[in-house]
Amino acid sequence: MLQTIAPASLALIKSQIRARTHALPDDPVWRAFDRRLDTHYGNLEKELSSLYGEDPRFNDFLLDLLTEAFVYALQRPTDLHALDAARESDPRWFQSQKMLGGVCYVDLYAGNLQALKARIPYFKELGLTYLHLMPPFKCPEVHNDGGYAVSSYRETNPAIGSIDDLRDLALALRREGISLVLDFIFNHTSDEHDWAKACLAGNPQYQDFYYIFPDRTMPDAYDKTLREIFPDAHPGGFSQLPDGRWIWTTFNSFQLDLNYSNPAVFKAMAGEMLEIANLGVEFLRMDAVAFVWKRLGTSCENLPEAHTVIRAFSALVRIAAPAMLFKSEAIVHPDDVVKYISPEECQISYNPLQMALLWNTLATREVNLLQQALEERHNLHPDTAWVNYVRSHDDIGWTFADEDAIRFDVNGFDHRQFLNRFFVNRFEGSFARGVPFQDNPQTGDCRLCGTTASLCGLEQNDPYASQRILLLYSVILSSGGIPLIYLGDEVATLNDHSYLDEEGKRADSRWVHRPHYQEALYRSRNNPFSPSGKVFMGLTHLIQQRARCEAFAGGHLIGFRTDNPSVLGYQRNSAAQKVLVLANFSEFPQHCTSQVFQALPETALDLISDRTLRLKGGLTLAPYAMLWLSVS
Ligand code: GLC
Ligand code: GLC
Repeated sequence: MLQTIAPASLALIKSQIRARTHALPDDPVWRAFDRRLDTHYGNLEKELSSLYGEDPRFNDFLLDLLTEAFVYALQRPTDLHALDAARESDPRWFQSQKMLGGVCYVDLYAGNLQALKARIPYFKELGLTYLHLMPPFKCPEVHNDGGYAVSSYRETNPAIGSIDDLRDLALALRREGISLVLDFIFNHTSDEHDWAKACLAGNPQYQDFYYIFPDRTMPDAYDKTLREIFPDAHPGGFSQLPDGRWIWTTFNSFQLDLNYSNPAVFKAMAGEMLEIANLGVEFLRMDAVAFVWKRLGTSCENLPEAHTVIRAFSALVRIAAPAMLFKSEAIVHPDDVVKYISPEECQISYNPLQMALLWNTLATREVNLLQQALEERHNLHPDTAWVNYVRSHDDIGWTFADEDAIRFDVNGFDHRQFLNRFFVNRFEGSFARGVPFQDNPQTGDCRLCGTTASLCGLEQNDPYASQRILLLYSVILSSGGIPLIYLGDEVATLNDHSYLDEEGKRADSRWVHRPHYQEALYRSRNNPFSPSGKVFMGLTHLIQQRARCEAFAGGHLIGFRTDNPSVLGYQRNSAAQKVLVLANFSEFPQHCTSQVFQALPETALDLISDRTLRLKGGLTLAPYAMLWLSVS
């Protein structure tokens, strides 16, 4: 057994970095780096030594990594150094009730990066402070999973512009108070990445970058306990190479999983990460976090080492580019989702549970599961936040906990089957027009695609469609965290089936809800008689009311039970203000009795309609009505 190597002392490391880079002691970049090393080196060293400490070259690895990190700090543009300092002195800046996210594909939404820049005035009109661009990096031309198969993290996809266009866009956004969000697709690369090509060609330096097996022995052993993520693409977790060998591919066959048990992989990806940070990225979306560590006999999801890898990356960022924060993408069991969220790991995270339960509640008209999730699973560490969303570019998966559901006598498996039937319109009377994703008849597993408008009934002109859309948004805007809009949804864009004609997209139904920018819908956004106008005007009104209301800052929520099974309730408090949120998830008027409001004042101002309501005799909520009641 190898012994863990004694860590080199920090003072020695500092002097070695300075010697290697000729940094002067009073260089301001060095001074900031030096100070951040004092704070974060301990964490970095702890995480990395638990992964790689037995490697005899560990101390050299650490020194090389930190030297490189300092070189990236030196290359970091001056205004980002200023941002680093500003964000370090105000670590809760993103808890503001003015934070609002949007997400889009550059090509589909605007054509290219320069044209996207020209849309900044619109983003400001909407109120965005955060813009997530789907991966803009170089990728295979046809099969690239919407850019999630990266061939180089240092070049953009030439179809949308150059790396300088991207840098320029980041700067323009930053000047307008909009933070750029990009993905760190660190679980895998495309099969056209230089590392992949070198590895497959037998270059010894890259041979352990990916997981390659000579025959099916090991793949069969692993497959026994793996979940199939894209069963339509290939069964199990592996794909066969032309030479007959097998390679680990959690997602598509052209997305090759990186091997993080190899410290060279960590170091190589750390360099790509800091390069991305220096583009001016403020939130790095940590893609597919659950999958980055593998161990035989496990599901190879959410292993403790996956967290260690992320915390090590995080510590490095705190040292070299601290304005950048991490956003977790873990679409897994709710107990596992929260494990990625902490000041030392991912400071913000998608909230897939709230997302799934919003749709569940629309289908069942019963708030029980959502109410329970908000009361028991919502509150986070005050330095972290949820990113609340109605839907993303990905499928909707029913990732609620079976243990939670059974408390209401709901059987998880059967209920998921019902939800899939309901949302793909195989259930009589359903308003929704969704499309199945990765329907797996062997396991009964299936997920769901569709734009918000199509899932809410607009495609079949259901009279309540726009109210349903606004109801869902009223929850993500008021429950605490950063609300995120899939751009296009705010003007009620419908499903688009044209992907079926496109090679490279046809087999992936998620494209049904990734439509092109629809000029006509945006033009009618201020026409109250068009569905897009109803949604846009209603939504921007909610966004503006929220921005004015301090009680919506931060993430802390207090449950508020009503006595009506279709009416959701919770309270948001600040020092100066208390707001009670109520939402009727049914198409019928719903009454809450006076008992519910006993502890509250007799009247309250609804911040959405600006009307004063009497609580004394109880309240009746109109179909799909939402109220933000100021009750302080
Ligand atoms: C993430 C992305 C998804 C992609 C997958 C593989 O889950 O959101 O779109 O298919 O990772 O990179
Ligand atoms: C990724 C994929 C998503 C899938 C999930 C499974 O997030 O994008 O489609 O449901 O992984 O964990």
